[in-house]
Amino acid sequence: MASVSVFSIAARRLEGKVALITGGASGIGERTARLFSKHGAKVVIADIHDNLAQSVCKDLDPKSASFVHCDVTKETEVENAVNTTVAKYGKLDIMFNNAGIVGVAKLNILDVEKGEFEQVINVNLIGVFLGTKHAARVMIPNRRGSIITTASVASTMGGCSPHAYTSSKHAVLGLTRNTAVELGRYGIRVNCVSPYLVSTPLAKNFLKMDDKGFNSVYSNLKGEVLKPEDVAEAVLYLGSDDSKYVSGHNLIVDGGFSIVNSGFCLFEQST
Ligand SMILES: NC(=O)c1ccc[n+]([C@@H]2O[C@H](COP(=O)([O-])OP(=O)(O)OC[C@H]3O[C@@H](n4cnc5c(N)ncnc54)[C@H](O)[C@@H]3O)[C@@H](O)[C@H]2O)c1
Repeated sequence: MASVSVFSIAARRLEGKVALITGGASGIGERTARLFSKHGAKVVIADIHDNLAQSVCKDLDPKSASFVHCDVTKETEVENAVNTTVAKYGKLDIMFNNAGIVGVAKLNILDVEKGEFEQVINVNLIGVFLGTKHAARVMIPNRRGSIITTASVASTMGGCSPHAYTSSKHAVLGLTRNTAVELGRYGIRVNCVSPYLVSTPLAKNFLKMDDKGFNSVYSNLKGEVLKPEDVAEAVLYLGSDDSKYVSGHNLIVDGGFSIVNSGFCLFEQST
C-alpha cells in the first residue's frame, strides 16, 4: 500500500503549481485543463464560451479549478484573467496561450477581406502577445514561470492552412523565440507546442470531417491518430519541471508530418 501512495505522489508532476489556460473550454485546452488538474495544478480556464468552460470546471475538483470570462483579443480581459488567477491562488506558474481560430475557409488571397485576415491575427497572435505580456508581468517578480503557446505545424510549413492562420502561427513562433530570449534572464521559459491535425471542433468544422476522416489521411505515422490528450501530454512536459532547461523550443507533435516532402519521398516510391 505504502509504495502505491508514494508512486501516486511522484506521478503528480504539477503539484503546487498554478496554471491559466486560454481556450480551455474545448479541444486541446480542455484536455490540458483536465490533465493539469490530475497532476495537482490549480487551473483557471479563460474562454469566451462561459457555459462550456463552467461545465469543464464542475467536472474538475471545484477547489482546484475555476473559470474567468476572457476574450483574448481584449487587453483588459487578459489582464483581468491573470490578476484573478493571482488573487485566487497567489501566483501564476504556467500560462498556456491556447485560444485560437482558423477563420473563414477561403484559400484564394484575392477573396480574403482585410477584416477576415485581421480577425485571425487578433485571436491567434495579438491574443498570444497579450497573454505572454501579462503572464510575464506577474512572473518576473517571482523569477520563474513557463509560458506555452499552441502554434501548429503551420508555424513552420506553408500550404496546410489559410493565409491568415499560417501567418499567425509563424508569428507566434517568432514571438516565442524573442520572448524566450528576453525573459530567460528572469528564469522564465517560453515555448510552443505545434500539433498536426487533431479532431476538435475547430478542425472538424473547418475541414468538414468526422472523426474517421482524421484517421491518417495525410499523416506520416501510421497506426496512431493524434488526439487532444496527446497534445496535452506535450504541454504537461513543457509546463512541468521535467523541461526545466527547455526554452525557445517549438515542440512539434506531428508524427513526422512536417519533415516529409510528399511530392518527392524515396520511401513512398519504394513501396
Ligand atoms: N485541432 C487542430 O487540428 C489543431 C492543430 C494545430 C493547432 N491547433 C491550435 O490549437 C488551439 C486550440 O484549438 P482546438 O483545436 O482545441 O479548437 P477548439 O475550437 O476545440 O478550442 C478553441 C477554444 O478557444 C476558444 N476561443 C476562441 N476564440 C477565443 C477568444 N477570442 N478568446 C478566448 N477564447 C477563445 C474557444 O471558445 C474554444 O474553447 C488553437 O490555437 C489552434 O489553432 C489546433
